Amino acid sequence: MKLAVIGTGYVGLVQGACFADTGNHVICMDIDREKIRALKKGTVPIYEPGLEEMVKRNIQEKRLEFTDSLKNAVQNSDVIFLCLPTPQSEDGSADLSHVLKVAQQIGRSMNDSKIIVSKSTVPVGTVEKIRHIVRKHSRYPVDVASNPEFLKEGTALQDSLKPDRVVIGSRNKKTIAAMKELYEPFMRTGNPILVMDERSAEMTKYAANAFLATKISFVNELANLCGQVGADIDLVRRGIAADPRIGKLFLFPGVGYGGSCLPKDVKALIKTSAENHHEFRILRAVDEVNEEQKKILLKKLAARFKHRLKGRTVAIWGLSFKPQTDDIREAPSLVIIQSLLDSGVRVKAHDPIAMPAVKARFGRRVAFYQSGYDALKRADALMVVTEWNEFRRPEFGRMKRLMKHPIIFDGRNIYDAKEMKERGFEYYGVGR
Ligand SMILES: NC(=O)c1ccc[n+]([C@@H]2O[C@H](COP(=O)([O-])OP(=O)(O)OC[C@H]3O[C@@H](n4cnc5c(N)ncnc54)[C@H](O)[C@@H]3O)[C@@H](O)[C@H]2O)c1
Repeated sequence: MKLAVIGTGYVGLVQGACFADTGNHVICMDIDREKIRALKKGTVPIYEPGLEEMVKRNIQEKRLEFTDSLKNAVQNSDVIFLCLPTPQSEDGSADLSHVLKVAQQIGRSMNDSKIIVSKSTVPVGTVEKIRHIVRKHSRYPVDVASNPEFLKEGTALQDSLKPDRVVIGSRNKKTIAAMKELYEPFMRTGNPILVMDERSAEMTKYAANAFLATKISFVNELANLCGQVGADIDLVRRGIAADPRIGKLFLFPGVGYGGSCLPKDVKALIKTSAENHHEFRILRAVDEVNEEQKKILLKKLAARFKHRLKGRTVAIWGLSFKPQTDDIREAPSLVIIQSLLDSGVRVKAHDPIAMPAVKARFGRRVAFYQSGYDALKRADALMVVTEWNEFRRPEFGRMKRLMKHPIIFDGRNIYDAKEMKERGFEYYGVGR
């Protein structure tokens, strides 16, 4: 099939590469010329394990092309995937300006009938809006479907090659058949392709992210209570996770959820609810708990140093919003760093991948180190903010020798509290 992918970011590039890998011809389009220039040479501008090899292979096989011309992408494809950003607007709703503008441009560029598929996370009713706009600007037949994306940054390639499920929101037989043909190679393990109406498909994506965010805020609240009453969240978590109705995944306490999806999608669903005269009370609490949770390590640090923070030095390990990605959008580390700087603390940071992005934001106000150990020199305390694997089994003796005070605030509970005390560290976890 001839496909176009509009928006070559985390979702578009991964999905475009996967579709090319199963034999389709894919043109990835982006307005970012720098990105397109790099991609044409096979340089992948984001960190996603395995992606660069797949992109290079498919460029070589001439199945994957890149362009900054929307017209070129539209006119040389039958199915057009929208993988455009839908960031948070000031009022919390999803900003649809990119999607709706592109819909208009596609309408104007069409040279034949097309299927347009929204992979962007968009509020209920957006597919109908896109259909209306494209039809207004084109004389060719068009169908628009919803196909929400569920990949996770860091494992995006694996998630796309073996999705848990594919959701197709369409009532058009031709569109459904084309989508099934595209996705069947990825569904050999028997995971379902779920066909439903557009509105239900659009809501499914928000429902999934809202539920995941709820799990995180629930376990964070529970952890904070455990800390107060002398229970250990790690034991409690295991105790509840053994029940299959609760499940083991996504039940880890920490410094709050971040990233480009959960925060904005929770807020957008709250907004959709309000617009429909429905107050989604649970989600409001989920959002509030999360904002508070980003400050949990700061509160512990302030209490430990009796609020005398000015002139202290704090090392931070981990900046991306989760391991295996360079994405820092809405990362708790940003709130933590800003607050430390506001309190007059010197910040020394290390992350295996995400330092350039944080440097672009804070510049020389933060000192960055290629080695986690270098960041520890003369530090009054260490904060572990992202649980990269390399932080799990460090040389504790070396750490202790480098630090001014061997104090660790473990925002991801990656260390064993008892073991850390035995090693001579003053240790603070979350909810234990
Ligand atoms: N990142 C994720 O983990 C993830 C997972 C599931 C769903 N989503 C959703 O998918 C959508 C895309 O997310 P993303 O993370 O890939 O975003 P991204 O910011 O990584 O990529 C979006 C790309 O679109 C390009 N773009 C912006 N305006 C454009 C235009 N007018 N024409 C062409 N290109 C344009 C940008 O330059 C950028 O490269 C969002 O709605 C997001 O909520 C993201």
